[in-house]
Amino acid sequence: MDTERLGQSRFLNILFKPAGWLMESRLRHWLMPPRKTLSGAGVGPGQTVLEVGSGTGFFTLPAAEMIGETGRLIGIDPLSDYVDRVQNKVREAGLNNVTVLKRDALDTKLVAASVDVVLLFGVLPYPTLPLDKLLPEMHRVLKAGGTLAVWMFPVSFGVPEAISRSGLFARLGKKNSVYTFRRTEN
Ligand SMILES: C[S@@+](CC[C@H](N)C(=O)[O-])C[C@H]1O[C@@H](n2cnc3c(N)ncnc32)[C@H](O)[C@@H]1O
Repeated sequence: MDTERLGQSRFLNILFKPAGWLMESRLRHWLMPPRKTLSGAGVGPGQTVLEVGSGTGFFTLPAAEMIGETGRLIGIDPLSDYVDRVQNKVREAGLNNVTVLKRDALDTKLVAASVDVVLLFGVLPYPTLPLDKLLPEMHRVLKAGGTLAVWMFPVSFGVPEAISRSGLFARLGKKNSVYTFRRTEN
């Protein structure tokens, strides 16, 4: 499936508009403050963070603030309207540590061993993000000892167990509803 091409489709971008409004609603901010969830992933100053499926940026801007000017956040999403929206928000907030790419996370084209934390927040399970292709790519881009952080809503559908079974990541724990894994060395 050519996810990057699908992400440019006018029809799909219109179809996903209402989901975007829900994802950035006040109710969601109130129910699950993004900084609290991000702290469960261990996001902190100076890190390079890869956010897979950055959507409308619910986690993007708070994460960029938490890593500070010495950190770098890369958001990846194939849906062009979502990416444009987040880029506007980043510009308006005057943040210069964020890059948002219209790209498929299965082939990030990022440099190997360049990322401290990968955020898989609200993106699993997803038909265009099969674990057998996503996990090897996340393993490739993470630095040795890097963290894979997964937040799912409302149920986990066996995803944490599947990640452990892959042998690419070892489970660390769960905090603020976020499962964390360490990249294993082969
Ligand atoms: C349910 S939304 C979650 C958005 C955001 N993480 C949040 O929690 O608000 C899932 C996002 O994953 C993106 N996505 C789907 N397939 C993808 C892929 N192959 N690579 C990167 N992002 C993808 C979708 O376009 C969508 O924006």
